[in-house]
Amino acid sequence: MQLELENRLFLVCGATAGFGGAIAHALLNEGAKVIAVARNRQKLEELRLLFPDRVETISGDLSRHETPDSIVNLLSNRALDGMLVNAGGPPAKSFIETEMQDWDAAYASVLRWKIALVKALLPKFRKQRYGRMVFVESISVKQPVENLVLSNSMRLAVVGFVKTLSQEIAAEGITCNILAPGYHDTNAVKRVIQKKSDVSGLDYTTVQKQLQNTIPAGRLGDPAEFASLALWLLSPLSGYITGQTISVDGGVMLGSFG
Ligand SMILES: NC(=O)c1ccc[n+]([C@@H]2O[C@H](COP(=O)([O-])OP(=O)(O)OC[C@H]3O[C@@H](n4cnc5c(N)ncnc54)[C@H](OP(=O)(O)O)[C@@H]3O)[C@@H](O)[C@H]2O)c1
Repeated sequence: MQLELENRLFLVCGATAGFGGAIAHALLNEGAKVIAVARNRQKLEELRLLFPDRVETISGDLSRHETPDSIVNLLSNRALDGMLVNAGGPPAKSFIETEMQDWDAAYASVLRWKIALVKALLPKFRKQRYGRMVFVESISVKQPVENLVLSNSMRLAVVGFVKTLSQEIAAEGITCNILAPGYHDTNAVKRVIQKKSDVSGLDYTTVQKQLQNTIPAGRLGDPAEFASLALWLLSPLSGYITGQTISVDGGVMLGSFG
C-alpha cells in the first residue's frame, strides 16, 4: 500500500521517544518531512542529524503558552499535512493520593495544551481544506486503569473535545482521531510498572510479568506497530475515518465495542 506521505509535512509532538519517536521515524522512512517537538534539545538534535534535510526541531514544553506560537512561527505560510498530538502522561496516582494541585497540573499537561495547539493550527488546516490530527491518549478512556486517576479522568475530556471538533470540521477535509494505547514497551509504561512495584513491594520483573499476563496477546506492544496505524491515519487514505477513539492494546479491552 502506498501511504502517499512523501514530501508531506507533519508536526510530531513528543518526537524523541516512545510513540512519538516511532511515528517520527516511520514518517521519515516514508519520505515525509517532520517538525519535531520535545523538551530535550540533545535528543531532538540526534533525530535531526539522522535526516538533516527533512527534520526541523522545536525545543519546548508543549504545556507552556509560547510553544504553539513557536510552531506557528516556524511553519509560517507553509502547508501542514497533519500533526501528532502527543506528549507524556500525568503521574501515576490513586485518587486518595492526589492534591488539588495535581488536578490543576493534569488539566495543563493532558488537556489545555492540546486545545491551544488546535486553536493555533486549525485556521491553517481550514484554509487548506485538508488536515489530519491524531491524538495519543490511553485505554484509560475506555476502561479506568488502577492508580491512574488523573489519566482516567482528564483524557476523557480530550475525547469529548476531539469528537465534537471532528463533527465541526468533517466537511472541510480535516479529520481528527484518537489512538488509545494499551501497554507498550516505552518509558511511560516502565514508569507505570515501577509505580506498581513500589506500591506492592514486588520486584519490577514480577510486576512486568503480571502485567503481560493481563494482556491477551501475552506481550507488551511495540511502538513501531502502533506507528503503522498512526501513519495510515495521518495519510490521505484515511479521509473517511474521523472522531474515532481506536484501541491499540493486544486485546486488553474486553467490551464488545472496545
Ligand atoms: N507506553 C504506553 O504503554 C502507554 C499506554 C497508554 C498511554 N500512554 C500515553 O501515551 C503518551 C506517550 O507515551 P510514550 O510511552 O510514548 O511516552 P515517552 O516514551 O515518555 O515519550 C514521551 C515523549 O514526549 C516528550 N514530552 C513529554 N512531555 C513533554 C512536554 N511537556 N512538552 C514537550 N514534549 C514532551 C518526551 O520528550 P522530552 O522529555 O524531551 O520532552 C518524549 O519525546 C503519554 O501520554 C502516555 O501516558 C502510553
